[in-house]
Amino acid sequence: MKYMWEGRFKDEILNEVIEFTKSIDIDKKLAFYDIKGSIAHTKMLAKVGLLTKEEEKEIIDGLKIIENEIKKNIFEIKKTDEDIHTAIERRLIEIKGDVGEKLHTARSRNDQIALDERLYLRDAIISIIKGIINVQKALLEKSEQYIDKLIPAYTHLKQSQVVLISHYLLSYIEKLERDKERFFSTYERVNILPLGVGACSGTTLNIDRKYVAELLNFPKITRNSLDTVSDRDFLLETLFNCVLTLIHLSSFSEDLIIWNMDEIEFINLPDNLCTGSSLMPHKKNPDILELIRGKTGISIGNLTGILCTLKSLPFSYNRDLQEDKKPLFETIEILISSLNILSKVIKNIKFNTEKIKNSISSFTLATDIAEYLVKKKIPFRKAHKIVGEIVNYCIKNKKDLFSLSLKEFKKFSKEFEEDIFNLLNFEKSANLKTSFGGTSIENVKKEIERWRENLKNFSIPILVLKRKSSMLKKLKAKK
Ligand code: ARG
Repeated sequence: MKYMWEGRFKDEILNEVIEFTKSIDIDKKLAFYDIKGSIAHTKMLAKVGLLTKEEEKEIIDGLKIIENEIKKNIFEIKKTDEDIHTAIERRLIEIKGDVGEKLHTARSRNDQIALDERLYLRDAIISIIKGIINVQKALLEKSEQYIDKLIPAYTHLKQSQVVLISHYLLSYIEKLERDKERFFSTYERVNILPLGVGACSGTTLNIDRKYVAELLNFPKITRNSLDTVSDRDFLLETLFNCVLTLIHLSSFSEDLIIWNMDEIEFINLPDNLCTGSSLMPHKKNPDILELIRGKTGISIGNLTGILCTLKSLPFSYNRDLQEDKKPLFETIEILISSLNILSKVIKNIKFNTEKIKNSISSFTLATDIAEYLVKKKIPFRKAHKIVGEIVNYCIKNKKDLFSLSLKEFKKFSKEFEEDIFNLLNFEKSANLKTSFGGTSIENVKKEIERWRENLKNFSIPILVLKRKSSMLKKLKAKK
């Protein structure tokens, strides 16, 4: 037998057809998940009497031999192996003979691939969540190190107001927390058993899907055969979550790249996390950060690719779906490797706090001055205008806000008093932002404490296992 579906064909299939349609080079990554799924399927077939105990034993033994061959890298892929499912089944029949031909009973590659992908994604999501937590922990450590140090906040890449470096770093912990939540939520929709719906309509055989779900630790089972083989929404949302997380990493990288510019030098990166130029001897480049930015672009392309593939699929399974794996695997690898390397970068960044402080413009205090006038009962719009005029006066006369006398302030509003000079201080400016969510050290300290608790108590396997077992109990109770 050359092809598992050859019975219907009279003529020899062109080599080009096989070359064009096969996916083994990519989906071989799913081999262990495919075997895991096949073992559970075999056990179920035996439980319902579609296999004898002896046949069950033989098939599982064969699958384990194949698993070993793959582990040892001696599993041979043949020219006629279309995909990983075909390759494993072909080898099983080679090893065990006729009994191997019973494995595919009540199963199609359409539900099989959906199962393999879901099994793969469960592990991938857990690795991603671990990676996110590592980056969050690195950010937290850095924010404790620079807890009271200042940095100008930018809007439109122009200095806006003074904030604490720690507040900036905590902002990325927040973004990553939402990313993590999205992955947890997606996990629920990934964690549903698709196997047992056949090619698209179910089976006339008396199978037991609940048993397979139990064996593979799925708390839920898909409820509609057509939906099960035709959709990849669980995969698409994982991909979107990856892209969004990468967008966060990319924009953080962009900040660091700018702060690493020779003219700016707000930060220094250690030698062992940079690379050089083949031509210019003096160069030390932040290539890791640039590659996070670059790979994020590729991931956005991958997401867009799958969106386009799905948008015009007609009724049920179509072979287009085979194309989902390359962008999926690539994006997940990009995200996991970016998270790993970025956590190392973060741990090793040095902020040049003096240089940063010296670069802060006095105009970052302008809004505080307007609020000073608001406290003196001047309507905000008027106060805004007054301070705008003061800034304009400073620019014209080559002054900054620190060099103005009370007399000069009073020219713009008689409400200015001696106490205005108490305000003209960057530390104060940051630390007076005590409104909830503001940058004051008082707020930041509380937030650091909160994150320390939150990240310390977080243990993924326990969380996922707990969730799984409570859902399994519910499932059993319903039976
Ligand atoms: N390799 C396919 C995929 O990744 C599964 C095979 C389905 N083939 C078929 N002729 N229905 O989606």
